[in-house]
Amino acid sequence: MTTRNDPCWCGSGKKWKKCHYPQTSENTKVTDIAKIYRKEHDIILKTPQQIEKIRAACKLTADILQKAVAFTKEGVTTKQIDAYVAKLTKDAGAIAAPLNYGEPPYPFHICTSLNDVICHGFPDDVPLKAGDIVNIDISCILHGYYGDASAMVAIGDVSEEKRKVVDVAHISLLKAISIVKPGVLLNQIGEVIESYANKMGCSVVDEFVGHGIGLKFHEAPAIHHNRNDYTIPLAEGMIFTIEPMINAGARKSKIDANGWTARTIDGKASAQWEHTILVTSTGYEILTIL
Ligand code: MF3
Ligand code: CO
Repeated sequence: MTTRNDPCWCGSGKKWKKCHYPQTSENTKVTDIAKIYRKEHDIILKTPQQIEKIRAACKLTADILQKAVAFTKEGVTTKQIDAYVAKLTKDAGAIAAPLNYGEPPYPFHICTSLNDVICHGFPDDVPLKAGDIVNIDISCILHGYYGDASAMVAIGDVSEEKRKVVDVAHISLLKAISIVKPGVLLNQIGEVIESYANKMGCSVVDEFVGHGIGLKFHEAPAIHHNRNDYTIPLAEGMIFTIEPMINAGARKSKIDANGWTARTIDGKASAQWEHTILVTSTGYEILTIL
């Protein structure tokens, strides 16, 4: 852990507390810190006005996710969940961020990732059956601002391996959120997640990351869920997702012919949970809870 008296990460040779330390003090105003983060890292520290709008988008995202999770049962198809979310989103005057996103354009409103699928699973016409685990990933644009959250649903009784990845992914997310506050280094998030997952005998996917969010769907910084060297200090007004993907076996993935869907190389189970988090002056606020 870097302390205030260590050399600044920017290479100035000055102490961190005299240089880029992300706190307001007599000589560093909030707006100056925002300029530094923008210039050095392309990170947008949000203003109180932007935070209000993003909070609303995130609340809607959480509300739709909760309804989608309640709708997800044995016999339901993931395409039916997609259609249900499309309607809820439209009725709320919002837009589903995934639809037409990226290259090739993502063709659905949500991602539904089953069993060995790590992320970006396409909804289809296969009914869910007992023993499946499925991640439902919801991303909304409300009045131009973004929210992003996902959760797992276990259908009926599931294997011990599946139960384990579902729980380890959830607990690793909550552990990572709990350390968020200004001054904590970004790479501590990956440290917390990977050390816990490894202790539980699971691996952490390193080919997909969380992300800054709010004014766009995917902003800087990338949030790595595994151990890494990105020692940017968290600062008040940062908004980003944490969305660890935890595998029962090897961490490596392969991509389906559709160009999007990532699955485990060994066919073992994978699970993911996601929240959008705001860094506050004293800690964090989970924006995607009701
Ligand atoms: N939470 C996922 C992400 O941030 C949502 C993916 S939607 C997709 O990547 F359109 F990119 F697939
Ligand atoms: Co995301």
